[in-house]
Amino acid sequence: MEFISPTVIIILGCVAVLLFLQWKNLRRPPCIRGWIPWIGAGFEFGKTPLEFIEKARIKYGPVFTVIVMGTRMTFVTEEEGINVFLKSKEVNFELAVQNPIYHTASIAKNIFLKLHEKLYITVKGKMGILNLYKFTGQLTEELQEQLQNLGTHGTTDLNKFMRHLLYPVTVNILFKKGLFPTDERKIREFHQHFQAYDEGFEYGSQLPECLLRNWSKSKKWLLALFEKNIPDIKTYKSAKDNSLTVMQAVLDLLEMEANEQKSPNYGLLLLWASLSNTVPVAFWTFAFVLSHPNIHRTIMEGISSVFGTAGKDKIKVSEDDLKKLPLIKWCILETIRLRAPGVITRKVLKPVKILNYTVPSGDLLMLSPFWLHRNPKYFPEPDLFKPERWKEANLEKHAFLDCFMAFGSGKYQCPGRWLALLEIQICIILIFYYYDCSLLDPLPKQSSLHLVGVQQPEGRCRIQFKQRK
Ligand code: HEM
Repeated sequence: MEFISPTVIIILGCVAVLLFLQWKNLRRPPCIRGWIPWIGAGFEFGKTPLEFIEKARIKYGPVFTVIVMGTRMTFVTEEEGINVFLKSKEVNFELAVQNPIYHTASIAKNIFLKLHEKLYITVKGKMGILNLYKFTGQLTEELQEQLQNLGTHGTTDLNKFMRHLLYPVTVNILFKKGLFPTDERKIREFHQHFQAYDEGFEYGSQLPECLLRNWSKSKKWLLALFEKNIPDIKTYKSAKDNSLTVMQAVLDLLEMEANEQKSPNYGLLLLWASLSNTVPVAFWTFAFVLSHPNIHRTIMEGISSVFGTAGKDKIKVSEDDLKKLPLIKWCILETIRLRAPGVITRKVLKPVKILNYTVPSGDLLMLSPFWLHRNPKYFPEPDLFKPERWKEANLEKHAFLDCFMAFGSGKYQCPGRWLALLEIQICIILIFYYYDCSLLDPLPKQSSLHLVGVQQPEGRCRIQFKQRK
């Protein structure tokens, strides 16, 4: 019998080790690819995406890939993956969103990538903590103006109510005072087209426009609205001070960069970003507060102690007043925690290691704030509405609770987050100052149909309101 020489054994051993290391390095996360090529798991995923993600996590573990419409989406759900999502230099925000931006706002990739950082800095500066005080007075006035149309008492759908309040307030503040139509027919048209655009946004961000006729019609209507109004927005001068509105600052930058022809498209993006999450969050905050009588009572008492009990005179809301009513801010943040966006996303530029897996370049890395906020490790009793948990957050220093990711994170975290919180705080103060309100329906379920943005209510939810004496 012939013996294999020790040299051959060593060489074979080395090759085996090398192959093993290479295999380990290339081990990809478990992949759900469905049966149909390209469509992948698209049908099952599309039916109830949020539930799909949670079931997949239970079945496949903390990192897994889903193939949907030719796109590889790798979900991360625990520390190590979340850290890569938040900190790795090999994952990128702009390349992850550039395609949806192209579909939804018709801004080409090269223009988007060239302007994004500068535009982000501009918008963030305008709505940052240091400039926030400029919005307090305007928001109070605009909201009071809208509330005057409400009458002394009545019954209304809470979602519709919030839209009628916040669409005009937000448009008039971010773009130009008086831009929101006042004529009944035009208001109806605006609502119809913005809602159609918002509801179809998720499909619109992935599918060719020719497959979504109604959505495309609404998108064009909104673009035409901006096209027509850009000259007026540009020349508008605030009666109160010389400061530019957020959209005016965007227009200035586009002019400097010789990209003015894209102004309506950026107008549309700003409009969508400012309304699509804020309105449902205001809805849910109201619904949560009204369905928790103790919290509702404490908030009413707080408002009376700061502004007095009568609800007829116009009031001014100051930064100090807001600080005296922390429960309102906690309720808003707790609502956002429970109704957080389904996913945020980053593109993998170079392969990244997560646990024992290698996620290849080109994958979309996905993190679900919605599910992260339901992990009892990070938020004890995660399904309960417990505003008091926000006592622990250092809100004075503008820090949220650890692992609260509803506004995204990192370099391109939501630039409108402070404005959104301020707008909803003042909205709650004014409604409860002027009206006694109660819910006529149980708290509705949340729809699990969407991944982009916060969760929408499913079914009706009416309130009754009566002017306070
Ligand atoms: C409760 C309300 C809001 C929520 C939950 C929310 C959430 C988010 C999230 C999750 C992102 C993506 C961040 C990331 O991936 O890291 C984002 C981006 C953005 N948000 Fe908000 N947002 C809200 C309100 C607003 C408001 C009121 C405005 C404007 C006035 C706004 C403007 C934007 C813009 C412009 C971006 C894109 C930033 C970029 O291009 O880098 N958001 N928001």
